[in-house]
Amino acid sequence: SANVDTVKEKTLAMIKPDGVGGNYVDIIKKIILDSGFFITQEMQLQLNEDAVKSFYAEHSSKSFFLDLVKYMTSGSVLIMVLEKENAIADWRALIGPTDANKAKVTHPKSIRAICGFNSERNCVHGSDSPQSAVREISFFFEKSSSDNSTVIKIDSVG
Ligand code: PPS
Repeated sequence: SANVDTVKEKTLAMIKPDGVGGNYVDIIKKIILDSGFFITQEMQLQLNEDAVKSFYAEHSSKSFFLDLVKYMTSGSVLIMVLEKENAIADWRALIGPTDANKAKVTHPKSIRAICGFNSERNCVHGSDSPQSAVREISFFFEKSSSDNSTVIKIDSVG
């Protein structure tokens, strides 16, 4: 019988400062693994302002941008590469809507419902498209050693 290869896809997941600071790392990782993802790379980082501004450059004109930068530099984050078939869409579904306050009503089992608070403190991030996933994974994991000035690595765990 023929083997059917399932094509794995990669996405970038981030546990934001409220998730790391609120001790949600273990429960989020359990949800990730129970949902069939493999965590193939991870590292804990303290992002600086330049790193956040660059990572979220597409939102630089939004009214909330400086709040987002302040929040995302307020504590360390855990960056992970997740792999499975349909990883990008499945991770976005698992995390739920951007506004964690609404997620608690409409998607009560989503990660943002479990550990988020509002549209800013929403616990986790996920790439929203294949193009974003490539960009975001390379942003953190595939930089040349001469181009690592925007992030401060504090505790590599992967
Ligand atoms: S938009 O306007 O629809 O493109 O924005 P959205 O996708 O909802 O959010 C983009 C990211 O910005 C964060 N965000 C906020 N941060 C601080 N304050 C407010 N009010 C706010 N609203 C949205 C939101 O958490 C998204 O972050 P990521 O990490 O991409 O989920």
